[in-house]
Amino acid sequence: MQIISVSLGNRSYDIEAGSDNLEHIGSFLTAFQPISTAVVLTDDNVIQHGYAHRVADSISETGIDVHLLSVASGEQSKTIETAATLWETLLDEGIDRKSVLISVGGGVIGDLGGFIAATYARGIRFFQVPTTLLAQVDSSIGGKVGIDLPKAKNMVGAFLQPLGVLIDTKTLKTLPDNQYRSGLGEVIKYGVSLDAELFQFLENNAEKINIRDLAILQQIVSDCCRIKATIVSEDEFETTGRRVLLNYGHTFAHAFEIQSHFTLLHGLAVSIGAVCAARLAVRLGLVDETFLQRQLCFHQNLKLPTEIPNNIDWRQTIALMRHDKKSEFGKLRFVLPTDIGSCRLIEDIDPQILERGL
Ligand SMILES: NC(=O)c1ccc[n+]([C@@H]2O[C@H](COP(=O)([O-])OP(=O)(O)OC[C@H]3O[C@@H](n4cnc5c(N)ncnc54)[C@H](O)[C@@H]3O)[C@@H](O)[C@H]2O)c1
Ligand SMILES: [Zn+2]
Repeated sequence: MQIISVSLGNRSYDIEAGSDNLEHIGSFLTAFQPISTAVVLTDDNVIQHGYAHRVADSISETGIDVHLLSVASGEQSKTIETAATLWETLLDEGIDRKSVLISVGGGVIGDLGGFIAATYARGIRFFQVPTTLLAQVDSSIGGKVGIDLPKAKNMVGAFLQPLGVLIDTKTLKTLPDNQYRSGLGEVIKYGVSLDAELFQFLENNAEKINIRDLAILQQIVSDCCRIKATIVSEDEFETTGRRVLLNYGHTFAHAFEIQSHFTLLHGLAVSIGAVCAARLAVRLGLVDETFLQRQLCFHQNLKLPTEIPNNIDWRQTIALMRHDKKSEFGKLRFVLPTDIGSCRLIEDIDPQILERGL
């Protein structure tokens, strides 16, 4: 088991990354007494694997009153309608400002639960128990919570740091293969663009990663949490430019996801986007062909996609990237690699460089 600290002054908290450790939640929470009630929020898929019940039972054993709530699984629940239903339910169940909301699930439940915690009764305390690889290495850390609008993902939300994050990598054993690969798309992002040692570790352990070896997963998840925690503590509210470096492959990925009407999973889009970013970096002379070949081989060993799907239009991709919510004044900007484990934000790239295709 590893403890990673996220240093954010009086909003600092710990991430516990272990295996088969869901039952630690009770003792983790007792440090934050008094707690009047614990609301465990999960989804209809996750609940079937018993994770939310294990969390609820462990909290109950400490004497805290627990309410277990479940919503439909998937992005469809990150809406104002689901949020409104949850606000009403919390009110009916007498949830007050001394309560804690605990999200047990993937990024959807983390973002939705955090949004409810940030808004109900002008804010109640929040805790994360992420159960997808994407949520364990990315979405549960950093305090971004929110819901979607019909026309724009993650458009309404807040920054809310949790009291803590409890990660049980054994929950990843029941994740469908495409969801597991999607999480790996974010993992490679950390290795290629931010941490050469992690990249080397991933390269050396591809086989074990593919069979979801728990010791290897625990090491990878802890390393990714540590990298993200460091960047978030340097730039909590995305104002200094540090946090943007977490977006390797993401400018391309967002354009692919929109065109696939979000049928392409985020981390798989990031995997393809990361290869596009590497190709662009070669074109700009930031890295050489050997870098690209090493990255391609790495993606293939982890069974991650590298080619743009046939139904994606390149011109539209460029147009969408110019209007990505992270771009400014229609300029094309990308996080591009300069070596294994390092990257830079490159702004105002000439669209003609992209128009010929990558
Ligand atoms: N807040 C952030 O910083 C941040 C960062 C990245 C992504 N996100 C958000 O995260 C969401 C995507 O998260 P996700 O990929 O975890 O999706 P998800 O929450 O929809 O989970 C994917 C699927 O896996 C199921 N599942 C979850 N855990 C399981 C387990 N252990 N075993 C079996 N099935 C399980 C879920 O029921 C769901 O069907 C998006 O809404 C995205 O916007 C937020
Ligand atoms: Zn991402």
